[in-house]
Amino acid sequence: MAFVTRQFVRSMASSSSATGPAATAKKILIKHVTVIGAGLMGAGITQVAAATGHTVVLVDQSEEILAKSKKGIEESLRRVAKKKFAEKPQDGDEFIKKTMGNISLTTDAASVVHSTDLVIEAIVENLKVKNELFQTLDKFAAEHTIFASNTSSLQITNIANSTTRQDRFAGLHFFNPVPMMKLVEVIKTPMTSQKTFESLLDFSKAVGKSPVSCKDNPGFIVNRLLIPYLIEAIRMYERGDASKEDIDIAMKLGAGYPMGPFELLDYVGLDTTKFILDGWHKMDMKNPLFQPSQILGKLVEDNKLGKKTGEGFYKYK
Ligand SMILES: NC(=O)c1ccc[n+]([C@@H]2O[C@H](COP(=O)([O-])OP(=O)(O)OC[C@H]3O[C@@H](n4cnc5c(N)ncnc54)[C@H](O)[C@@H]3O)[C@@H](O)[C@H]2O)c1
Repeated sequence: MAFVTRQFVRSMASSSSATGPAATAKKILIKHVTVIGAGLMGAGITQVAAATGHTVVLVDQSEEILAKSKKGIEESLRRVAKKKFAEKPQDGDEFIKKTMGNISLTTDAASVVHSTDLVIEAIVENLKVKNELFQTLDKFAAEHTIFASNTSSLQITNIANSTTRQDRFAGLHFFNPVPMMKLVEVIKTPMTSQKTFESLLDFSKAVGKSPVSCKDNPGFIVNRLLIPYLIEAIRMYERGDASKEDIDIAMKLGAGYPMGPFELLDYVGLDTTKFILDGWHKMDMKNPLFQPSQILGKLVEDNKLGKKTGEGFYKYK
């Protein structure tokens, strides 16, 4: 999810130990990548993979979306180059040219996956749509091709079930904005092979990220801790224990978080948080951490979704 504070992620990443002692079957050297979904996450993943020398085919449903995404990637690269090559702008231009040269676009995923080492899916957060996509790609992809989903809240096992390659299927959870955020959660299902897992750890490092590993539990590491924290802040406010302003101040000044929970909720989008919480509640009705929140439900119903609609817990107009 987008909404992890940078500090939070840094502390998570620095304590990681994703590489286990297990013996390695011959790993796959991932060079050719297909990214499905050219939205916020897909564009970011494409950028970092292409910038680190991988060839990337970016897929979406229309030429217009792809063109917009490509433009966004180029603009983002320009910002990176400006910082990275401040003294040598010519090298920056070369970096942008080379990176963009590694990216191609298509609306037809089935026609490209036969020559890819890794498919990373970053489409809409809907199990049925993801299942349909992977079921189709499974028929066209090369035997060795690894499938990965960037889902934030769905179980990887449920997505992998639509394919015949559960051993070559895992979660690869990047954080938003991808070019900035160093963490990747690599999710191993009970069916994911050690070879697939280790190939994905290597790939994560090759794109400049710090991988951590996690079992296929709701929310993996970061969101599993972050969502209950945010919901607990709402419950505290609902009970009248403290004002939302004071809760935000307390977590910033007392815990050193760059944003308070209500600021973060509004930044993420209240609909997104509710969607994740509802999904987990359905999975585990008795878990007290996953119980729905009335106030969150009411704000979403009133289309007060946070910053993006101009009002959530706070007003932004
Ligand atoms: N936004 C975040 O902060 C964030 C962070 C981590 C993970 N994720 C996960 O990443 C995934 C994508 O999120 P996003 O925020 O980038 O979404 P987005 O809405 O920005 O982009 C999704 C893209 O997928 C395309 N798409 C939908 N169905 C498709 C299909 N069948 N084939 C090809 N393209 C298709 C859409 O046209 C759209 O361009 C979700 O699973 C989400 O849970 C999101």
